[in-house]
Amino acid sequence: MEFLIRPIDIGDGKGVNALRRMPGVFENILGIPSERVKRNEDFIINMDSNQHQFVAVTKIENDEELIIGTAGLTVNANHRTRHSGNIGIMVHKEYQNMGVGTSLMKALLDIADNWLMLIRVELTVFEDNERAIHLYEKFGFDKEGIKRLAGIRNGKYENEYLMARINPLYSK
Ligand SMILES: CC(C)(COP(=O)(O)OP(=O)(O)OC[C@H]1O[C@@H](n2cnc3c(N)ncnc32)[C@H](O)[C@@H]1OP(=O)(O)O)[C@@H](O)C(=O)NCCC(=O)NCCS
Repeated sequence: MEFLIRPIDIGDGKGVNALRRMPGVFENILGIPSERVKRNEDFIINMDSNQHQFVAVTKIENDEELIIGTAGLTVNANHRTRHSGNIGIMVHKEYQNMGVGTSLMKALLDIADNWLMLIRVELTVFEDNERAIHLYEKFGFDKEGIKRLAGIRNGKYENEYLMARINPLYSK
């Protein structure tokens, strides 16, 4: 499957909304099925210079573009934590486990390491989300702790791991 990674664009709200509400995705990203396209459009329009968001796109019938993944890095605005950022990532249910998440992570960490020179990148993940944890560990993230009963999922409060990666240049 061919796909490319590009920065998110003004017209991507609908495609991102479809991803964020999709069964097989929304359960693990703190999404909610009632999320409106307007919210995603507003997010894109209001992004500031500390927010870096990519989409993965492929071509379907009639040469139409389909958004099959998105991932973002938000750099902390506070002067004393500006060497850190948070990331989030999701891939379309039908395109998972095909390397899209890996490509999106590479794009985010290239910006974090080489262009912003962040020292620390962190995220949270449900403790049973094994595929995501595998992806994060592949890129050098470690589990730092458990946030007990931190997120709601399908009628239950669930634990999340806090995971972080120290830029390899500074981790010794
Ligand atoms: C988690 C997610 C972003 C990963 O993206 P992806 O495109 O599916 O990931 P990739 O295909 O690039 O890589 C998947 C890796 O996990 C491995 N994997 C797949 N299922 C696994 C499982 N159950 N346990 C452990 N590893 C698993 C694959 O073998 C592959 O590893 P490799 O690259 O070492 O061969 C994607 O599956 C997703 O969007 N899931 C739903 C939303 C979500 O969980 N987002 C993250 C919230 S923290």
